[in-house]
Amino acid sequence: MAKPRLLTGLQPSGDLHIGNYFGALKPFVDTYEKYDSFLMVVDYHALTSLKSPDELRKNTIEAVRTYLAVGVDPNKAVIFKQSDVPAHTELAWIFDCLVTVPFLMQAHAYKDKVAKGLEANAGLFTYPMLMAADILLYDAEAVPVGEDQRQHIEYAREAAAKFNKAFTEVFKAPKELILKATGVVPGTDGKKMSKSYGNTIPLFGSREEIQKAVMSIVTDSSAGIPENVYAMHKLLKSEAELAPLYEANKGSYKALKDALVEDLDAFIAPMREKRESISDAEVASVLADGAEKAREVSEAKMEAVRKAVGVR
Ligand code: AMP
Ligand code: TRP
Repeated sequence: MAKPRLLTGLQPSGDLHIGNYFGALKPFVDTYEKYDSFLMVVDYHALTSLKSPDELRKNTIEAVRTYLAVGVDPNKAVIFKQSDVPAHTELAWIFDCLVTVPFLMQAHAYKDKVAKGLEANAGLFTYPMLMAADILLYDAEAVPVGEDQRQHIEYAREAAAKFNKAFTEVFKAPKELILKATGVVPGTDGKKMSKSYGNTIPLFGSREEIQKAVMSIVTDSSAGIPENVYAMHKLLKSEAELAPLYEANKGSYKALKDALVEDLDAFIAPMREKRESISDAEVASVLADGAEKAREVSEAKMEAVRKAVGVR
Protein backbone atom coordinates (compact mmCIF):
# COMPACT_ATOMS: atom_id res chain seq x y z
CA MET A 1 0.00 0.00 0.00
CA ALA A 2 1.34 3.39 -0.98
CA LYS A 3 1.52 5.83 1.90
CA PRO A 4 -0.55 9.02 1.61
CA ARG A 5 1.48 12.01 0.52
CA LEU A 6 2.47 14.78 2.90
CA LEU A 7 3.99 18.10 1.93
CA THR A 8 5.02 21.00 4.05
CA GLY A 9 6.84 24.28 3.56
CA LEU A 10 9.62 25.34 5.85
CA GLN A 11 10.08 29.00 6.45
CA PRO A 12 13.76 29.80 6.96
CA SER A 13 13.93 29.67 10.71
CA GLY A 14 16.46 31.66 12.68
CA ASP A 15 16.86 31.45 16.44
CA LEU A 16 14.68 28.47 17.26
CA HIS A 17 13.95 27.73 20.90
CA ILE A 18 12.82 24.61 22.74
CA GLY A 19 9.22 25.88 22.52
CA ASN A 20 9.46 25.54 18.73
CA TYR A 21 10.96 22.09 19.20
CA PHE A 22 8.24 20.66 21.44
CA GLY A 23 5.48 22.65 19.74
CA ALA A 24 6.26 22.03 16.08
CA LEU A 25 9.47 20.17 15.21
CA LYS A 26 9.08 17.12 17.44
CA PRO A 27 5.44 16.45 16.50
CA PHE A 28 6.56 16.61 12.87
CA VAL A 29 9.53 14.28 13.37
CA ASP A 30 7.24 11.83 15.17
CA THR A 31 4.81 11.80 12.23
CA TYR A 32 6.49 12.23 8.86
CA GLU A 33 7.46 8.59 8.33
CA LYS A 34 3.82 7.56 8.24
CA TYR A 35 3.59 9.48 4.96
CA ASP A 36 5.34 9.81 1.64
CA SER A 37 6.81 13.08 2.87
CA PHE A 38 8.00 16.10 0.94
CA LEU A 39 9.68 18.94 2.82
CA MET A 40 10.29 22.10 0.94
CA VAL A 41 12.24 25.21 1.89
CA VAL A 42 10.06 28.02 0.61
CA ASP A 43 12.72 30.42 -0.60
CA TYR A 44 10.44 32.17 -3.13
CA HIS A 45 7.88 32.75 -0.40
CA ALA A 46 10.65 34.23 1.73
CA LEU A 47 11.46 36.66 -1.07
CA THR A 48 8.14 38.42 -0.42
CA SER A 49 9.77 39.99 2.62
CA LEU A 50 13.51 39.29 2.43
CA LYS A 51 15.66 41.22 0.00
CA SER A 52 19.10 40.05 1.02
CA PRO A 53 20.69 37.37 -1.19
CA ASP A 54 23.26 36.37 1.44
CA GLU A 55 20.64 36.01 4.11
CA LEU A 56 18.29 34.06 1.87
CA ARG A 57 21.08 31.64 0.95
CA LYS A 58 22.14 31.27 4.57
CA ASN A 59 18.57 30.84 5.85
CA THR A 60 17.88 28.16 3.27
CA ILE A 61 20.89 26.13 4.37
CA GLU A 62 20.06 26.65 8.04
CA ALA A 63 16.48 25.45 7.56
CA VAL A 64 17.75 22.18 6.08
CA ARG A 65 20.38 21.73 8.79
CA THR A 66 17.76 22.27 11.47
CA TYR A 67 15.49 19.55 10.11
CA LEU A 68 18.37 17.12 9.69
CA ALA A 69 19.63 17.91 13.21
CA VAL A 70 16.29 17.28 14.90
CA GLY A 71 16.02 13.90 13.25
CA VAL A 72 14.52 14.04 9.76
CA ASP A 73 16.22 11.37 7.67
CA PRO A 74 16.83 12.58 4.09
CA ASN A 75 16.44 9.00 2.89
CA LYS A 76 12.91 8.90 4.28
CA ALA A 77 11.68 12.26 3.03
CA VAL A 78 12.24 14.34 -0.06
CA ILE A 79 13.90 17.57 1.08
CA PHE A 80 14.06 20.25 -1.58
CA LYS A 81 14.05 23.93 -2.34
CA GLN A 82 11.02 25.59 -3.92
CA SER A 83 13.08 27.59 -6.43
CA ASP A 84 14.69 24.38 -7.76
CA VAL A 85 11.33 23.38 -9.22
CA PRO A 86 10.13 26.08 -11.65
CA ALA A 87 6.71 24.43 -11.93
CA HIS A 88 5.76 26.08 -8.61
CA THR A 89 5.90 29.62 -9.96
CA GLU A 90 4.50 28.51 -13.31
CA LEU A 91 1.42 26.97 -11.73
CA ALA A 92 1.02 29.89 -9.33
CA TRP A 93 0.58 32.16 -12.35
CA ILE A 94 -2.20 29.96 -13.68
CA PHE A 95 -3.97 30.08 -10.30
CA ASP A 96 -3.53 33.87 -10.22
CA CYS A 97 -5.56 33.94 -13.44
CA LEU A 98 -8.38 31.98 -11.79
CA VAL A 99 -8.92 33.78 -8.51
CA THR A 100 -10.18 37.30 -7.96
CA VAL A 101 -8.59 40.21 -6.15
CA PRO A 102 -11.46 40.43 -3.58
CA PHE A 103 -10.98 36.73 -2.80
CA LEU A 104 -7.26 37.21 -2.10
CA MET A 105 -8.03 40.31 -0.07
CA GLN A 106 -9.75 38.16 2.53
CA ALA A 107 -6.50 36.42 3.52
CA HIS A 108 -5.81 36.99 7.23
CA ALA A 109 -2.08 36.34 6.88
CA TYR A 110 -1.78 39.06 4.22
CA LYS A 111 -3.72 41.56 6.28
CA ASP A 112 -1.71 40.73 9.42
CA LYS A 113 1.60 41.13 7.65
CA VAL A 114 0.64 44.47 6.11
CA ALA A 115 -0.70 45.64 9.49
CA LYS A 116 2.72 44.78 10.96
CA GLY A 117 4.35 47.09 8.44
CA LEU A 118 5.42 44.68 5.70
CA GLU A 119 5.35 46.13 2.21
CA ALA A 120 2.11 45.16 0.46
CA ASN A 121 3.90 43.89 -2.64
CA ALA A 122 2.07 41.83 -5.26
CA GLY A 123 4.02 38.72 -4.28
CA LEU A 124 2.83 38.98 -0.70
CA PHE A 125 -0.70 39.44 -2.00
CA THR A 126 -0.66 36.37 -4.27
CA TYR A 127 1.33 34.32 -1.72
CA PRO A 128 -1.60 31.89 -1.17
CA MET A 129 -1.61 30.91 -4.84
CA LEU A 130 2.09 30.03 -4.78
CA MET A 131 1.36 27.99 -1.67
CA ALA A 132 -1.58 26.32 -3.46
CA ALA A 133 0.78 25.40 -6.31
CA ASP A 134 3.29 23.97 -3.78
CA ILE A 135 0.67 21.64 -2.42
CA LEU A 136 -1.37 20.74 -5.50
CA LEU A 137 1.58 19.88 -7.76
CA TYR A 138 2.24 16.87 -5.52
CA ASP A 139 -1.32 15.71 -4.93
CA ALA A 140 -0.51 16.23 -1.26
CA GLU A 141 -3.30 15.05 0.98
CA ALA A 142 -1.83 15.98 4.34
CA VAL A 143 -0.33 19.40 4.87
CA PRO A 144 1.17 19.96 8.34
CA VAL A 145 0.86 23.62 9.23
CA GLY A 146 0.33 25.78 12.28
CA GLU A 147 -3.13 27.05 13.13
CA ASP A 148 -2.30 30.39 11.46
CA GLN A 149 -2.01 28.65 8.07
CA ARG A 150 -5.38 26.91 8.12
CA GLN A 151 -6.96 29.49 5.83
CA HIS A 152 -4.16 29.07 3.29
CA ILE A 153 -5.08 25.40 2.92
CA GLU A 154 -8.67 26.49 2.24
CA TYR A 155 -7.27 28.74 -0.48
CA ALA A 156 -5.46 25.75 -1.96
CA ARG A 157 -8.68 23.71 -1.96
CA GLU A 158 -10.44 26.61 -3.63
CA ALA A 159 -7.72 26.94 -6.29
CA ALA A 160 -8.03 23.21 -7.03
CA ALA A 161 -11.81 23.45 -7.33
CA LYS A 162 -11.64 26.52 -9.58
CA PHE A 163 -9.13 24.86 -11.88
CA ASN A 164 -11.01 21.55 -12.06
CA LYS A 165 -14.20 23.43 -12.88
CA ALA A 166 -12.69 25.76 -15.48
CA PHE A 167 -10.65 23.06 -17.26
CA THR A 168 -10.50 19.38 -16.42
CA GLU A 169 -10.25 17.42 -13.20
CA VAL A 170 -6.50 17.60 -12.49
CA PHE A 171 -6.19 18.36 -8.78
CA LYS A 172 -6.98 16.59 -5.53
CA ALA A 173 -8.29 18.51 -2.52
CA PRO A 174 -5.63 18.77 0.23
CA LYS A 175 -6.28 18.80 3.95
CA GLU A 176 -4.45 20.57 6.75
CA LEU A 177 -2.76 18.42 9.36
CA ILE A 178 -2.59 20.31 12.62
CA LEU A 179 -0.17 18.28 14.71
CA LYS A 180 -0.85 17.93 18.39
CA ALA A 181 1.89 19.37 20.52
CA THR A 182 2.60 18.67 24.17
CA GLY A 183 1.04 22.01 25.02
CA VAL A 184 2.49 25.41 25.54
CA VAL A 185 6.14 25.40 26.58
CA PRO A 186 6.76 28.00 29.30
CA GLY A 187 9.73 30.34 29.16
CA THR A 188 12.13 31.46 31.88
CA ASP A 189 9.51 33.85 33.27
CA GLY A 190 6.69 31.29 33.25
CA LYS A 191 4.92 32.93 30.29
CA LYS A 192 4.74 31.21 26.88
CA MET A 193 8.27 30.79 25.56
CA SER A 194 8.64 33.25 22.72
CA LYS A 195 11.39 35.09 20.93
CA SER A 196 9.49 38.32 21.40
CA TYR A 197 9.40 37.92 25.21
CA GLY A 198 13.14 37.22 25.47
CA ASN A 199 12.42 34.25 27.75
CA THR A 200 13.78 31.43 25.61
CA ILE A 201 16.12 28.47 25.87
CA PRO A 202 17.81 28.37 22.45
CA LEU A 203 17.30 25.00 20.73
CA PHE A 204 20.91 24.66 19.64
CA GLY A 205 22.33 26.73 22.48
CA SER A 206 25.80 26.17 23.91
CA ARG A 207 26.14 24.99 27.48
CA GLU A 208 26.98 28.55 28.50
CA GLU A 209 23.85 29.90 26.83
CA ILE A 210 21.72 27.24 28.49
CA GLN A 211 23.29 28.03 31.86
CA LYS A 212 22.72 31.75 31.46
CA ALA A 213 19.07 31.23 30.50
CA VAL A 214 18.40 28.79 33.34
CA MET A 215 20.01 31.06 35.94
CA SER A 216 17.63 33.80 34.78
CA ILE A 217 14.56 31.66 35.51
CA VAL A 218 12.31 33.59 37.84
CA THR A 219 11.78 31.75 41.13
CA ASP A 220 9.30 32.55 43.86
CA SER A 221 10.62 33.27 47.34
CA SER A 222 8.45 30.78 49.23
CA ALA A 223 10.45 27.63 50.04
CA GLY A 224 9.52 24.47 48.18
CA ILE A 225 9.30 23.80 44.50
CA PRO A 226 10.37 26.58 42.12
CA GLU A 227 7.47 26.34 39.69
CA ASN A 228 9.15 27.74 36.59
CA VAL A 229 12.15 25.47 36.99
CA TYR A 230 9.93 22.47 37.51
CA ALA A 231 7.69 23.29 34.52
CA MET A 232 10.70 23.27 32.23
CA HIS A 233 12.18 20.18 33.85
CA LYS A 234 8.95 18.28 33.21
CA LEU A 235 9.56 18.56 29.45
CA LEU A 236 12.64 16.39 29.86
CA LYS A 237 11.83 13.96 32.67
CA SER A 238 8.78 12.30 34.14
CA GLU A 239 7.30 13.43 37.44
CA ALA A 240 8.39 10.14 38.98
CA GLU A 241 11.97 10.75 37.92
CA LEU A 242 11.93 14.29 39.22
CA ALA A 243 10.25 13.62 42.59
CA PRO A 244 13.35 12.45 44.52
CA LEU A 245 15.45 15.33 43.16
CA TYR A 246 12.91 17.98 44.15
CA GLU A 247 12.30 16.29 47.51
CA ALA A 248 16.02 16.22 48.35
CA ASN A 249 16.54 19.84 47.29
CA LYS A 250 13.49 21.54 48.73
CA GLY A 251 14.14 25.27 48.83
CA SER A 252 17.59 24.88 47.29
CA TYR A 253 16.89 26.58 43.99
CA LYS A 254 20.52 26.74 42.92
CA ALA A 255 20.91 22.95 43.08
CA LEU A 256 17.67 22.45 41.14
CA LYS A 257 18.73 24.91 38.47
CA ASP A 258 22.10 23.16 38.19
CA ALA A 259 20.27 19.88 37.67
CA LEU A 260 18.08 21.48 35.01
CA VAL A 261 21.15 22.82 33.19
CA GLU A 262 22.58 19.27 33.19
CA ASP A 263 19.39 17.79 31.80
CA LEU A 264 18.84 20.50 29.20
CA ASP A 265 22.40 20.18 28.00
CA ALA A 266 22.11 16.39 27.78
CA PHE A 267 19.02 16.85 25.65
CA ILE A 268 20.33 19.66 23.44
CA ALA A 269 23.98 18.58 22.99
CA PRO A 270 23.33 15.72 20.52
CA MET A 271 21.20 17.98 18.28
CA ARG A 272 23.69 20.82 18.60
CA GLU A 273 26.57 18.51 17.67
CA LYS A 274 24.64 16.94 14.81
CA ARG A 275 23.85 20.39 13.46
CA GLU A 276 27.47 21.49 13.68
CA SER A 277 28.59 18.34 11.87
CA ILE A 278 26.41 18.99 8.81
CA SER A 279 28.46 20.74 6.14
CA ASP A 280 27.17 23.07 3.45
CA ALA A 281 28.21 20.41 0.92
CA GLU A 282 26.01 17.83 2.63
CA VAL A 283 23.06 20.23 2.55
CA ALA A 284 23.71 20.92 -1.14
CA SER A 285 23.74 17.22 -1.87
CA VAL A 286 20.48 16.60 0.03
CA LEU A 287 18.84 19.48 -1.88
CA ALA A 288 20.14 18.25 -5.25
CA ASP A 289 18.70 14.76 -4.66
CA GLY A 290 15.47 16.23 -3.40
CA ALA A 291 15.10 18.57 -6.39
CA GLU A 292 15.45 15.65 -8.76
CA LYS A 293 12.72 13.65 -7.02
CA ALA A 294 10.44 16.66 -6.64
CA ARG A 295 10.79 17.53 -10.34
CA GLU A 296 9.92 14.00 -11.34
CA VAL A 297 6.60 14.15 -9.50
CA SER A 298 5.69 17.74 -10.27
CA GLU A 299 6.64 17.70 -13.97
CA ALA A 300 4.15 14.92 -14.70
CA LYS A 301 1.44 16.97 -13.02
CA MET A 302 2.53 20.15 -14.77
CA GLU A 303 2.29 18.51 -18.19
CA ALA A 304 -1.34 17.62 -17.46
CA VAL A 305 -1.93 21.23 -16.38
CA ARG A 306 -0.34 22.69 -19.52
CA LYS A 307 -2.49 20.47 -21.70
CA ALA A 308 -5.61 21.30 -19.72
CA VAL A 309 -5.20 25.07 -20.07
CA GLY A 310 -4.18 24.88 -23.73
CA VAL A 311 -0.53 25.93 -23.80
CA ARG A 312 0.28 22.43 -25.13
P1 AMP B 1 6.51 30.93 16.00
O1 AMP B 1 7.94 31.10 15.65
O2 AMP B 1 6.10 31.57 17.28
O3 AMP B 1 5.59 31.25 14.84
O4 AMP B 1 6.30 29.37 16.24
C1 AMP B 1 6.62 28.38 15.29
C2 AMP B 1 6.04 27.07 15.75
O5 AMP B 1 6.51 26.71 17.06
C3 AMP B 1 4.52 27.09 15.84
O6 AMP B 1 3.99 25.90 15.30
C4 AMP B 1 4.21 27.18 17.33
O7 AMP B 1 3.06 26.47 17.66
C5 AMP B 1 5.44 26.53 17.97
N1 AMP B 1 5.72 27.22 19.23
C6 AMP B 1 6.31 28.43 19.38
N2 AMP B 1 6.44 28.76 20.69
C7 AMP B 1 5.94 27.74 21.40
C8 AMP B 1 5.77 27.46 22.80
N3 AMP B 1 6.20 28.31 23.76
N4 AMP B 1 5.19 26.30 23.15
C9 AMP B 1 4.77 25.42 22.22
N5 AMP B 1 4.89 25.62 20.90
C10 AMP B 1 5.46 26.75 20.47
N1 TRP C 1 2.99 29.67 4.41
C1 TRP C 1 3.64 28.67 5.20
C2 TRP C 1 4.08 29.30 6.53
O1 TRP C 1 4.21 30.50 6.61
C3 TRP C 1 4.83 28.10 4.49
C4 TRP C 1 4.44 27.32 3.26
C5 TRP C 1 4.66 27.69 1.96
C6 TRP C 1 3.80 26.07 3.23
N2 TRP C 1 4.22 26.71 1.12
C7 TRP C 1 3.66 25.72 1.84
C8 TRP C 1 3.32 25.20 4.22
C9 TRP C 1 3.06 24.53 1.44
C10 TRP C 1 2.71 24.03 3.82
C11 TRP C 1 2.59 23.69 2.45
O2 TRP C 1 4.33 28.58 7.47
